[in-house]
Amino acid sequence: MSHQSPSRRHVTVHDLQRMASTDERIVMVTAYDAVTARIADAAGVDVLLVGDSVGNVCLGFENTLPVTMAMMAHHLEAVARTRPRALLLVDLPYLSYHLGHEEALRNAGGLIQKGAQGVKLEGGARRVPVIRALVEAEIPVMGHLGLTPQSLHAMGGYKVQGREAGAAVALLEDALRIQDAGCFGVVLEGIPAELAERVTQELDIPTIGIGAGLACSGQVLVFHDILGLLEGKPPKFVRAYLDGFEHLREGLGRYADDVRSGRFPGPQESYMLPEAAREQIKAWKPTR
Ligand code: KIV
Repeated sequence: MSHQSPSRRHVTVHDLQRMASTDERIVMVTAYDAVTARIADAAGVDVLLVGDSVGNVCLGFENTLPVTMAMMAHHLEAVARTRPRALLLVDLPYLSYHLGHEEALRNAGGLIQKGAQGVKLEGGARRVPVIRALVEAEIPVMGHLGLTPQSLHAMGGYKVQGREAGAAVALLEDALRIQDAGCFGVVLEGIPAELAERVTQELDIPTIGIGAGLACSGQVLVFHDILGLLEGKPPKFVRAYLDGFEHLREGLGRYADDVRSGRFPGPQESYMLPEAAREQIKAWKPTR
């Protein structure tokens, strides 16, 4: 059984377009460091996203809002050093693209220079000017619509978006606007499956769903959610393929037992002196 797509050639934004147009589903996963990147790449995913979810998943923040450019750069560089086959995208964090095109360009371009092959930013029609500016500077941009975590307070919490007719139509229009501005793809998060289906039909660019049903061109989930590494009840849209938290807790518990009972380290985990040195050490007396 193979989980990998057949080619080891590096994935590009053009591959995503081709995959979407031939109904080959796109697999996207977050990665935050060299370990998660190597595991996801070895599993054959198509796209790695250094998401600003690093804030709540790895750094202990309550949400993504405190995540800075410096934090994103630090995690991106760790992932980029693994030279993944997967396309490497990075989130522009909150406030890094809201204060003017020049600053957005400097921030996005800096992440490209650190190894990202494209950036993702949240929001619809009002992001058109900044999307255009980045695309003009040869930076591939992925949009993000629906439940956009950086709008947490404006949305009044993490709520499914586009449920009412007006909001659904507005989301469809936003999708067309950001496509026209030059986005090469769009994440659809936390919206009804029928709405995501309609967006996917209307757009020429790939849609990547998270809590947006099956009709999208691909799916994205957070690495730690897929492997059940986080405590607490996951959101409805998550499917965990392992009870990673319990597996890791159990492994570490056995290590702790072995240390406490003197079973670790054993001879196989210890370095031994050569015979002659052993004799000398035995015979050695302090000179006082
Ligand atoms: O930061 C993130 O993890 C995301 C998702 C789409 C998974 O933006």
